[in-house]
Amino acid sequence: MSGPLVVLVGPMGVGKSTVGQLLAERLDVGYRDTDDDIVAEQDRSIAEIFVDDGEEAFRAIEKRAVRRALGEHDGVLALGGGAILDADTRGLLAGRRVVYLAMDVEEAVRRTGLGVARPLLAVNPRKQWRELMDARRPLYESVATVVVATDGRTPEEVGQIALDAL
Ligand code: S3P
Repeated sequence: MSGPLVVLVGPMGVGKSTVGQLLAERLDVGYRDTDDDIVAEQDRSIAEIFVDDGEEAFRAIEKRAVRRALGEHDGVLALGGGAILDADTRGLLAGRRVVYLAMDVEEAVRRTGLGVARPLLAVNPRKQWRELMDARRPLYESVATVVVATDGRTPEEVGQIALDAL
């Protein structure tokens, strides 16, 4: 199947961009991130899109961006944390190498702090993280060919584990 060599999924703040860039370097391929594509296309931040247009509109934009990137990019591709909410997107990931970077809720709260830059976590980070993870964990797992627990590991260690598993 053409398309990305590796797709990274997992919650926001888990280190998809850092690990993704490390992987791309090690594999000598390009790195692409659908959040960056969306910001470039829309010429506004993700937070602005959420505030101005709402989450549903963001998800529609995201769905298109993921489809496009899967068709165009042949390196390492990182998806926004909520991209797997969409069933069609999950379907498009079937048969691909998908690495799920996982972390537990406490680690997520520590890493993202108050989550001000992330619209989904602005109110009560711990509770929202728990709900988010409970809802999404099965979806991440359903698309993943490799799962790497990132808790207590450096991005380099996570990248190495992912590489060894590919
Ligand atoms: C989101 C994750 C973010 C971004 C948006 C929504 C989510 O991407 O797409 O804020 O629903 O988990 P990152 O996972 O790259 O931070």
